[in-house]
Amino acid sequence: MERFNKEDILILAIESSCDETAASVVKNGREVLSNIIYTQIALHTQFGGVVPEIASRKHIEKINQVIEQALKEAEVTLQDITAIAVTYGPGLVGALLVGVAEAKAISFATGIPLVGVHHISGHISANYIEHKELEPPFVCLVASGGHSHLVIVRDYGEYEIIGRTRDDAAGEAFDKVARAIGLGYPGGPKIDKLSREGNPDAIPFPRAKVAENEYDFSFSGLKSAVLNYLNSCQMKGEKVNQADVAASFQKAVIDVLVEHSLHAVKAYGFRKFAIAGGVASNSSLREAFERECARRKIEFYYPSPVYCTDNAAMIGVAGYYEYQKGVRHGYDLNAVPNLKLGEW
Ligand code: KG4
Ligand code: ZN
Repeated sequence: MERFNKEDILILAIESSCDETAASVVKNGREVLSNIIYTQIALHTQFGGVVPEIASRKHIEKINQVIEQALKEAEVTLQDITAIAVTYGPGLVGALLVGVAEAKAISFATGIPLVGVHHISGHISANYIEHKELEPPFVCLVASGGHSHLVIVRDYGEYEIIGRTRDDAAGEAFDKVARAIGLGYPGGPKIDKLSREGNPDAIPFPRAKVAENEYDFSFSGLKSAVLNYLNSCQMKGEKVNQADVAASFQKAVIDVLVEHSLHAVKAYGFRKFAIAGGVASNSSLREAFERECARRKIEFYYPSPVYCTDNAAMIGVAGYYEYQKGVRHGYDLNAVPNLKLGEW
């Protein structure tokens, strides 16, 4: 039996903004027919972080295979595809260019319309996949390796940013602290795991507030506090309890994310709240939001971990809503490494 009808809108989505080469086929904006992710993490681990040049080279090597596999698993051919959605920013320019050039080539060869998608719009839209009832408006916390944004989702693809990080993104703080305590890259999942063995109240790390905007975040002070703590232990010849440092740091990040987010939900009068981005897969963060949202009678939404970290299914969902609005990009579509949310 066919997995789709002629009236269905099938989006072929491509994502290559950082270190995942990904392609997906999404039906009618909410149903994922395939979600192929080739992750380069193992390749970058030896360097302690993503090396942009290596990421681009790996994307170009893998992208055709990943797309072929996405079409095959979805049991479709290019002839069945309604539109091609591709992340064109923000991200690493060389990495983005691989996906954009690929999408343009397929569009040029087949005549299938091209829709450029904002990476963060993709992260937010990941929530629509498993929550068929979720519709805007709602408040969303986007916490990834490059971004920490508090966003009001006014409508599909329409965003108002009410809070942002002044320095490091939440995921970046996880990665830097993990490196400092010797856990390696990527730090988030490693700190998540190790924290289970530690005491989150062992070390009183700071919870930063930003004076001018109560919804903004700042994580660089916390990162410095962790580094200072590690230094002072070393100077005193004290053994560092890695798990306690991980758990106390993680708790400090989560406390701030929860407090700012739920304050915003209340102040703006919303009852629905979602999380998105790589950090949203953190198990303690999910538990904390679950608990606090239940207490305040806020409906809480979160994607499965595979849709939190970079993937193309989320780009397919965001691309579907852009396509429905009539957005089409030309063959002059370019990668925009610092693309702002709401600017396209
Ligand atoms: O969304 P994402 O895959 O890529 C960006 O768009 O940046 O996010 C990657 C970030 C990394 O900093 C990684 O350490 C963090 O998300 N991350 C986590 C967890 N899994 C990934 N942070 C905390 N806990 C996790 N379980
Ligand atoms: Zn991302």
